[in-house]
Amino acid sequence: MKSSTTRSERAVVTTAPSGDPAEARHIADAYGLEAVPRDGRTIEQLLEAYPGILVLGSRRADLYENGRTYRASVGMAFLRVLRARKGEIDPLVRHASLEPGDAVLDATLGLGGDALVAAQTTGTKVVGIESDPVIAAFTYAALRRLPKHGREPARRVEVVRADHRAFLKAQPDASFDVVLLDPMFRRAGDAGPLFELLRSHGDHGLGPVDMVRSIVKSIEMRAAGETRNVAAVSRAINTARRVYHAADVERQNRNGTLFAAGLITGEALMGIVIAIPIVATGRADVLALPAALQFGGWLGLIIVGALAWLLYRTGSRRTA
Ligand SMILES: C[S@@+](CC[C@H](N)C(=O)[O-])C[C@H]1O[C@@H](n2cnc3c(N)ncnc32)[C@H](O)[C@@H]1O
Repeated sequence: MKSSTTRSERAVVTTAPSGDPAEARHIADAYGLEAVPRDGRTIEQLLEAYPGILVLGSRRADLYENGRTYRASVGMAFLRVLRARKGEIDPLVRHASLEPGDAVLDATLGLGGDALVAAQTTGTKVVGIESDPVIAAFTYAALRRLPKHGREPARRVEVVRADHRAFLKAQPDASFDVVLLDPMFRRAGDAGPLFELLRSHGDHGLGPVDMVRSIVKSIEMRAAGETRNVAAVSRAINTARRVYHAADVERQNRNGTLFAAGLITGEALMGIVIAIPIVATGRADVLALPAALQFGGWLGLIIVGALAWLLYRTGSRRTA
């Protein structure tokens, strides 16, 4: 595990006046932190003794550390759940082909957003593995404090503090249908206070490629045998029918965005190229085809169709 785990393990859990000390003890025991009684102390007094403090109130929880306060929340995932309730298909659900009843292991739980969306779709338990104690405790606290429509799926997310490599090795065959992987490869562009929290505590031990390799390796031990590539393995295995890898989705999104940006820029450039002969000659019809060759409409239609197909293929291609 990474070195900042030591700092994480020195963080403590306590309560606000409205909080329940039994919950603080439960969280501390479950995720390897210490529960400290509040005893009327201010946050400032506690921060003199501990590097990080998770303060549990009845309706909210806050993590104080490094001069910052992080309100426990699942970020945008609550909105994703609301949209899913209205019938919209979340990208995670589409890309991981999640179905009701699927047994899902989120091997990189983080702030629990993807696990929550998965629990909403599958209607059954999702096991979320997180190696960092502070993130595990923070996410547990956030999931237990969601507004109305998030509560039910949140109850189905089991937050486990473990390294997923060790956890997977200990699982019997056919334990999960789908394994979700979202390693710490986020770029600085993913700003926002909670990504800051993930960046400072998250386990950066395995990059996206190594993480997929190590997961596939753990799964191979119970696999039917073939190990050609991730896609092939994920179809052949007993333990997980599918491996969803967030890097694939990011790559697809990036390809699609790049292609669309290219089209927009290309259109602007074409406008300039067309304007040059018109301005140079002073004739608006300088580029017009002779009457016998008036097939521009059909040609345009074919080119637009081909571009639309290329755009679709670029954006939706799966990369194993
Ligand atoms: C990018 S975040 C995941 C975000 C998550 N999908 C969400 O919706 O909030 C990656 C998380 O995986 C955790 N992680 C990285 N390697 C791990 C491992 N080997 N075992 C368990 N957790 C791990 C990191 O600590 C981090 O919290």
